[in-house]
Amino acid sequence: MPQIILTCDPDFNDLALDEFRRDSVYGAPVAELAPGVWLAECDDGFWGLAESWQAKPPIFVRHLCPVDAVLPLTGTPDDIPGLAALAAAEFAAALDPDLAYSVQSRVLDTELPFKPFDLNIALSGSLTEATGAVVDVRDPAQVLSVVAARLDEDARSRLTFHASSTAADVIRNTQYAFMGLSPTHLNLSDWAGGVRRFAREDGQISRAEFKLLEALEVFRIDLPPRGVALDLGAAPGGWTRVLRQREQYVTAVDPAELDPRLADDKAIRHKRMTAEEYLADEPDEFDLIVNDMRMDARDSARLMVAYSRQLYRHGLALMTFKLPGTERKQIIDHAFGILRQRYEILGARQLFHNRSEITVAMMGKRS
Ligand SMILES: C[S@@+](CC[C@H](N)C(=O)[O-])C[C@H]1O[C@@H](n2cnc3c(N)ncnc32)[C@H](O)[C@@H]1O
Repeated sequence: MPQIILTCDPDFNDLALDEFRRDSVYGAPVAELAPGVWLAECDDGFWGLAESWQAKPPIFVRHLCPVDAVLPLTGTPDDIPGLAALAAAEFAAALDPDLAYSVQSRVLDTELPFKPFDLNIALSGSLTEATGAVVDVRDPAQVLSVVAARLDEDARSRLTFHASSTAADVIRNTQYAFMGLSPTHLNLSDWAGGVRRFAREDGQISRAEFKLLEALEVFRIDLPPRGVALDLGAAPGGWTRVLRQREQYVTAVDPAELDPRLADDKAIRHKRMTAEEYLADEPDEFDLIVNDMRMDARDSARLMVAYSRQLYRHGLALMTFKLPGTERKQIIDHAFGILRQRYEILGARQLFHNRSEITVAMMGKRS
């Protein structure tokens, strides 16, 4: 059966594998290569599953890539030229020379004597030499994914090895490289394993800023020039700072203090009260409502429904659902049911920067 590699937050393995089983044809996990990284197989293979997920993206699976070739590794630095040669021999014909590409490697076994960077450089060197295609690590149209990991004997018996591997290598070795080529957009994330890192900036107020930056990117949200935004649960002010960087006027609602570095910014209005109290204050209308309140997801969804009148017709809303350890699926379904009274859900993802939560993007329902 064709094999693929799925990646998710390991605390949400159960929900990610449920999505995979639900949306694939006879999908089954084969082995967990590292926490949250799954070798899996399904009858519809990478292309069939990726097509289903283009139409209806999963929430918890962050990244998907094909397994087109499996090679036993020696566990020595000789693996680097070996994999580079295989990359050119196996993938040069399928790589479109007119489109930028990148090699995205993950080395999941810490005993292997090389780093992802070493593989990326060696493999892209040999692929570019063979095809003339240009490497663009920031915005590749196609990706060669490489995952190097250790496998136990049981999982090994379910692999089909590349023709170049000798039977002796297959039996002797316990570390393997899984390689697959695919259009970047089908991988669910442009980043290896869905790991989207942002540079830390001077003046950063909270790590939550990364969460909003990632959400704006993943849901492709362009903010209107000099728009007006409402930030519910704003303190200490990370999201407010990101919105200000994008020239939004921000009403920041939170009973807690905002970071003093925001105090002199005249384009920020701090309403030092709860979101429930501010709603009773007959607030204005907004182009964007964001909500990162620490609150039960269903109560938070009810408040968003109450706030839907405060959103302009063209407006967008973003919120996080905080998810406890149990009954997470029921809570998500219930919160979606509440939101759908007044919103159309544009997308929901567990972003790399989400911890025990998911991020939901929506727009007001036209009625
Ligand atoms: C995770 S923090 C928000 C972090 C913020 N997004 C940032 O980037 O700095 C959650 C916030 O929700 C606020 N909160 C909880 N319940 C609230 C309510 N009913 N109304 C307004 N804010 C609330 C808390 O005071 C807390 O500051």
